Amino acid sequence: MSLHGYRAALAASEERFQLAVSGATAGLWDWNPQSGEVYFSPHFKGIMGYADHELPNEGRAHLDAVHPDDIGRVKQGLDMHLRERRPYDVEYRLRTKSGGFRWVQSRGQALWDDAGEPYRMVGWIMDITDRKRDEQALRVSREELRRLSAHIQRIREEEKARIARELHDDLGQQLTALKMAVTLVEHKGSNRAAPPLSQGDLRGMYAMIDQLIDSVRRIAADLRPVMLDDLGLIPAIEWLASDFSARYQVKVIRHIDVDAIEFNRECRIEVFRMVQEALTNVARHSGATEVVLDIVRRDPHCIVRVVDNGRGAAARDSRPGRHSFGLIGMRERAALLGGEIQIRTTPGSGFELTAILPLAAVEARE
Ligand SMILES: Nc1ncnc2c1ncn2[C@@H]1O[C@H](COP(=O)(O)OP(=O)(O)O)[C@@H](O)[C@H]1O
Ligand SMILES: [Mg+2]
Repeated sequence: MSLHGYRAALAASEERFQLAVSGATAGLWDWNPQSGEVYFSPHFKGIMGYADHELPNEGRAHLDAVHPDDIGRVKQGLDMHLRERRPYDVEYRLRTKSGGFRWVQSRGQALWDDAGEPYRMVGWIMDITDRKRDEQALRVSREELRRLSAHIQRIREEEKARIARELHDDLGQQLTALKMAVTLVEHKGSNRAAPPLSQGDLRGMYAMIDQLIDSVRRIAADLRPVMLDDLGLIPAIEWLASDFSARYQVKVIRHIDVDAIEFNRECRIEVFRMVQEALTNVARHSGATEVVLDIVRRDPHCIVRVVDNGRGAAARDSRPGRHSFGLIGMRERAALLGGEIQIRTTPGSGFELTAILPLAAVEARE
């Protein structure tokens, strides 16, 4: 090739390079490890928030901006590549002009001379902040679900233990007493010397049987409010609210569209449990004197809202925490129905919890 030909080829190659550099979504860098000289493409500087002329073409300009927790990995990665020729591919945080950090992925390739000394290393960085954020959100949500499922297992075991205890202590004891009463009757019937059977004996046994029936009802209602299936959601909620008012001396003002919504079986229990948990939270955390409970139809949604006039909470407290599963559980229940939970609260000014549920799911035929 003639000299002219070489020049033309070089110019074309350089032009291609410039085009690639200016069009690339990656920021390019070209570094001479011997002289320390470095070239950053405008896009490289752009990722760091600088205009082309604002960031000097010096290695330090980049290394000084690497997050202190990541700089060790970056330096080690470079070292391993230059000395042992291991692939250079590192993810780290870079401080931008505004002082915030962005995540980048950096890859590069060195060239070595005959003596095995690296004389050039070229590479690119790519902004992966969004991906990192998604990964982080996914990790948090996975962790939350894992804790929730562990919690559910634990609750199940505790529930079983509680029911077993109630059956044993409550029903077991009453049945034992009843058996003793029956034995006494038998003794009186077969032993002429014993005092005769009286009305009182039988009345005592009837009273025990009534008590037994009550206990069975109470234990069953605790497991699943029978009312929910027999009378429907609204009467069950009315009962819940009255019971709550009586127990905690908190007024519950109700705005309920009776008959406006046909709650199906599945969502009855979900809505009932949500309101139950919300009221439990009011009793536990709020110190409120008044609660407003709305269950209303706002096509295409069913709105369930519990607002108290208590002390409220800092935003961080009502975010799902390590040991509080009430709100997480409510979110899960709402999500199950294709809806969501919204919380509005500031310290000192009450707590407002709203479940927004699509009527399509709430009223769906089973
Ligand atoms: N009505 C309320 N008033 C004030 N703070 C509340 C209320 N409801 C919930 N919170 C705050 O939200 C947190 C999380 O609630 P929750 O998930 O039900 O957990 P738990 O009731 O087990 O603490 C509570 O610990 C409390 O700080
Ligand atoms: Mg709670």
